[in-house]
Amino acid sequence: MKVLIVGGGGREHALAWKIAQSPMVSRVFCAPGNAGTASVAGNIPLEPTDLDSLAAFARKEGIDLTVVGPEAPLVAGLADFFSTRGLRVFGPTKAAAQIEGSKVFTKELMRKYDIPSAAFEVFDGPQEARRYVEKRGGPLVVKADGLAAGKGVIVCGTTQEALTAVDLIMEEKAFGEAGERVIVEEMLCGEETSYIVLTDGERMLPMPPSQDHKPVFDGDTGPNTGGMGAYAPAPVVSPEVEERIMGEVMEPTVKAMAAEGKPYRGVLYAGLMIQDGRPRVLEFNARMGDPETQPLLMLMEGDPMPALLAIADGELSENIELQWSPGASVCVVMASGGYPGEYDKGHEIRGLEQVSKMEDVQVFHAGTRLDEDRVVTSGGRVLGVTARGKDVGAAVQAAYRAAKGIDWDGVHYRKDIGAKALARKGV
Ligand code: AMP
Ligand code: GLY
Repeated sequence: MKVLIVGGGGREHALAWKIAQSPMVSRVFCAPGNAGTASVAGNIPLEPTDLDSLAAFARKEGIDLTVVGPEAPLVAGLADFFSTRGLRVFGPTKAAAQIEGSKVFTKELMRKYDIPSAAFEVFDGPQEARRYVEKRGGPLVVKADGLAAGKGVIVCGTTQEALTAVDLIMEEKAFGEAGERVIVEEMLCGEETSYIVLTDGERMLPMPPSQDHKPVFDGDTGPNTGGMGAYAPAPVVSPEVEERIMGEVMEPTVKAMAAEGKPYRGVLYAGLMIQDGRPRVLEFNARMGDPETQPLLMLMEGDPMPALLAIADGELSENIELQWSPGASVCVVMASGGYPGEYDKGHEIRGLEQVSKMEDVQVFHAGTRLDEDRVVTSGGRVLGVTARGKDVGAAVQAAYRAAKGIDWDGVHYRKDIGAKALARKGV
């Protein structure tokens, strides 16, 4: 079989690496990919939202399955576009991808179906939003309705910050159309986790709970990023908490989407706040997390293709399962100097060859490209150095040992990925 992976970040390198190992798969392509995917797949220079060109490529190349990494093409309707042309695709329809594409849709869905989440109100003008902020008072969270490349959520400690956030989104239109409506919601406290399942709209195959690290600096300080590292499994999700997540969040959500006439097939990712064992939803995503995918796929044993194909065809039979290694995995993201602000590109990355020989380590590329025979930086998040170990402590050590072997001008990375898990375990 031939598989096309849409996207070009660390998540897509991990997907390409895993899928290329499947005995069912003869060839993997990645559009557009990066210097890392080039070692396991053929890179195709097409943009993830260029649906016409992607479908034309899939038809010409005889692609058997297209797997979509990022949200933008899903929200733009890639799955519908492919299906109506007889091309098999793994990913939710445009209507179902609203679960990520419109925060207002999702908040109203959760309210209607009693899925636990923060109390909220929706506003389509700045005056009403400001009046509500003044009435409620901070702390509050202000969110642009639509997709804003992960930047449309502003956590505000005070009333004044929330007023400024409303102005930024609705007056200055910092996120364009995505900010035509805003949500003002209660700030939740606790520990965050990412809970990801594959589903055909009825059955669910859960992945181990994972945890991202969004702020740029150690100790969760500094501005938010796309994610500076992740690990799995996350011990904040005990077996009891996991049962509540499935029963109170995932099952009712999948049922709610079906009841709303938007049956959900693909990856369903819940960003959750866990407080005293109680899960509440911060957001849903219609795709795998980045960087959560990197440690999750390091932990996956066996072949994901039967599950991906069955879900693409809409029926996940009882005999398809995912298998997981009993250990833990940690991904440390190495970023360009200045990220998440301005940064330069084109720095040569040193040490990749040496680190590639380390056991139980994979370096997933994100913002990299090949410049003749050198690998150079080409984005903010550059590499996801990912290791597996018998527990989080061992995986943390292995990932940092590998990260120390890699270097370029200006590189920076967090030194405390996994610390919350280690503190909890008292290691
Ligand atoms: P989202 O894109 O909705 O996941 O929001 C990005 C980040 O903002 C989350 O990972 C949380 O850290 C934070 N966040 C979002 N909503 C809330 C909330 N209601 N309370 C506290 N933090 C939140
Ligand atoms: N790691 C957060 C996300 O993928 O949205």
